[in-house]
Amino acid sequence: MNKYVLMVGLAALLTACGEKSEQAAAPADAPKTAQQVAAPAAAPTPAQGNDKAALVEQAKGTVQALGGTLKGELEAAMKAGGPVEAMNICHTKAPEIAKAVSAEKGMEISRVSLKNRNPEMGAANEWQVAVLNDFEAKKATGEDPATMAYAEVVDKEFRFMKAIPTGAVCLKCHGTDLSPEVTAKLTELYPQDKATGYKEGDLRGAFVVVKQLTQ
Ligand code: HEC
Repeated sequence: MNKYVLMVGLAALLTACGEKSEQAAAPADAPKTAQQVAAPAAAPTPAQGNDKAALVEQAKGTVQALGGTLKGELEAAMKAGGPVEAMNICHTKAPEIAKAVSAEKGMEISRVSLKNRNPEMGAANEWQVAVLNDFEAKKATGEDPATMAYAEVVDKEFRFMKAIPTGAVCLKCHGTDLSPEVTAKLTELYPQDKATGYKEGDLRGAFVVVKQLTQ
């Protein structure tokens, strides 16, 4: 695979059933260390055809849209009812929000993990597992997951992945020391759950953005 990793300089977004994004409205001025990412400054121009730099910008905007929305929903739900209530929100709303953002942005977005909770959307396919393993290998050499991203065109399909680090707030539902209430809720909603045992700074998973190219 002729991979080239795009160092997307977004500061670690933070949270929402997983994602993060403290600067949802300011995508463009993060430092970019790979020329592939050097796209026009303002992101929201829809990508045309196979212009990869524009596709990457569009994918980053899609990630920020989902990350920002999930973050808002998670924070509000945690405040209103604590992690067990928030779990209900993540369970029903996270997939719906991903669908809505995909429709709005014209790119298919989801989240995957090597240890997924969502049994349908969350399981990584072979290509995604390879990218996640690559992110893990880079993390093992000291790279910060918050800056890891990767894009490739495979068989006329544009694929983009952006790593999702584990933040402190994630540990209530993805950590090692879960409350009995959270554990009970997880057992009820996700009997196959693999997404616990994380520590702060671990790679929780990644956003995946896919777009079929027509030409
Ligand atoms: C209130 C509990 C809760 C908190 C806090 C939480 N999550 Fe989750 N997370 C969930 C649930 C529930 C799902 C499954 C959602 C679904 O069914 O699609 C999930 C799914 C995910 C997924 C999709 C992949 C998978 O495992 O299925 C990622 C990635 C993720 N969370 C990352 C995070 C990160 C990063 C944080 C912290 C910033 C976080 N989560 C905080 C409950 C939580």
